[in-house]
Amino acid sequence: MKSFVTFLFVVYELYLCESQGISAGTPVFVLKGEDLLLNVTKTVVLGKFDNFSWKCNKSNIVRFTFNDKGVSANYTRRVEFPVNNYSVILKNLQEADSGVYTAVVATDSGDETEAKYNVKVQDRVSPVNLTVVNNSVSRNSSSCSFTVTCSSQDSHINSTFTCDTRTCSQEGGERSEGIPDTFLQVHQSSGSIICNHSNRVSWTDTTIIIKDVCHQHDVPPPPNPVPIILGVFFPILILAIIGVLWCYLRTRTIRSSSPDSGSNR
Ligand SMILES: *[C@@H]1O[C@H](CO)[C@@H](O)[C@H](O)[C@H]1NC(C)=O
Ligand SMILES: *[C@@H]1O[C@H](CO)[C@@H](O)[C@H](O)[C@H]1NC(C)=O
Ligand SMILES: *[C@@H]1O[C@H](CO)[C@@H](O)[C@H](O)[C@H]1NC(C)=O
Ligand SMILES: *[C@@H]1O[C@H](CO)[C@@H](O)[C@H](O)[C@H]1NC(C)=O
Ligand SMILES: *[C@@H]1O[C@H](CO)[C@@H](O)[C@H](O)[C@H]1NC(C)=O
Ligand SMILES: *[C@@H]1O[C@H](CO)[C@@H](O)[C@H](O)[C@H]1NC(C)=O
Ligand SMILES: *[C@@H]1O[C@H](CO)[C@@H](O)[C@H](O)[C@H]1NC(C)=O
Ligand SMILES: *[C@@H]1O[C@H](CO)[C@@H](O)[C@H](O)[C@H]1NC(C)=O
Ligand SMILES: *[C@@H]1O[C@H](CO)[C@@H](O)[C@H](O)[C@H]1NC(C)=O
Ligand SMILES: *[C@@H]1O[C@H](CO)[C@@H](O)[C@H](O)[C@H]1NC(C)=O
Repeated sequence: MKSFVTFLFVVYELYLCESQGISAGTPVFVLKGEDLLLNVTKTVVLGKFDNFSWKCNKSNIVRFTFNDKGVSANYTRRVEFPVNNYSVILKNLQEADSGVYTAVVATDSGDETEAKYNVKVQDRVSPVNLTVVNNSVSRNSSSCSFTVTCSSQDSHINSTFTCDTRTCSQEGGERSEGIPDTFLQVHQSSGSIICNHSNRVSWTDTTIIIKDVCHQHDVPPPPNPVPIILGVFFPILILAIIGVLWCYLRTRTIRSSSPDSGSNR
């Protein structure tokens, strides 16, 4: 199975620590079920009494001491150490793992936050339905206009299109947020209307073809062959069968009655 790993980089730059000190940290988006690599990008040298920790929301995930390491109870089965440095892989992230991840070096003179990431775990977006609103199609020789609704489990947007033979203008349907960091957007592209449901880690879309909406009433529906067969051929067939049967029975009656009358007399 394909496994993706999202990388975090520890940058040992003082100005970065300061600029990120108060902020929520660099945003990182992870697809639910994937792994997160907490990568150290510079050699960390710990003094005898120094510690290096990866934390989530201030609680330890793992703490490295001068010659040992300890994984917090909540993370024992979920942490891997890919290499012989302070990099850590956190496995199988769930929505509840969203939070602020920090790399902290603890020394006698205090704690230094070396990196800060605002990790958000998102699931795949749900499928969307794109439908033409009932009775919204209106058209004349030069233009056609209609309204579509695109709906997901959580929200919906409407958008009205007015099309001439070459182009369509659109009203409404711009990117709008249902749940945070999730977007619904209706747009047009090469003769189609597309509704795109997306978040930071996935997207799904549905398409309808503009011609199918606007030319719906142009062509009379093609004659359906079934009623023709039923309405014309069946009666003829039945009449033919009745006729053949009738002839057959008649000739049989004539044949069987003539010798009878002959022998009786
Ligand atoms: C971890 O960071 C180092 C230094 O930036 C980089 O060379 C390395 O490719 C990163 N590791 C992974 C697995 O991306
Ligand atoms: C830690 O190991 C990773 C994977 O081999 C490597 O990319 C990274 O550069 C190493 N970090 C340091 C500081 O050596
Ligand atoms: C472990 O998880 C529980 C529940 O999620 C939480 O209450 C507790 O503080 C966590 N413990 C540590 C050491 O992070
Ligand atoms: C971290 O804190 C945020 C916001 O308070 C919370 O939504 C999230 O679930 C927490 N993450 C963990 C792993 O406790
Ligand atoms: C580092 O961890 C060790 C063992 O858990 C502890 O005794 C020590 O006080 C810690 N050092 C610092 C600077 O916090
Ligand atoms: C749209 O119209 C059709 C027939 O006019 C009707 O069967 C259908 O239930 C309507 N749909 C909605 C969502 O109103
Ligand atoms: C067709 O309809 C559009 C808008 O509904 C209108 O602007 C246009 O003038 C109409 N054209 C004709 C030929 O009726
Ligand atoms: C999409 O349409 C199908 C069939 O009409 C329906 O079962 C499903 O619940 C709809 N999904 C959404 C997200 O509206
Ligand atoms: C979208 O259109 C539907 C049906 O016409 C209507 O019920 C709904 O309120 C509209 N929603 C918005 C956000 O305009
Ligand atoms: C849908 O939106 C996502 C995120 O903005 C984008 O990457 C993707 O290409 C879009 N898909 C379509 C079919 O427009």
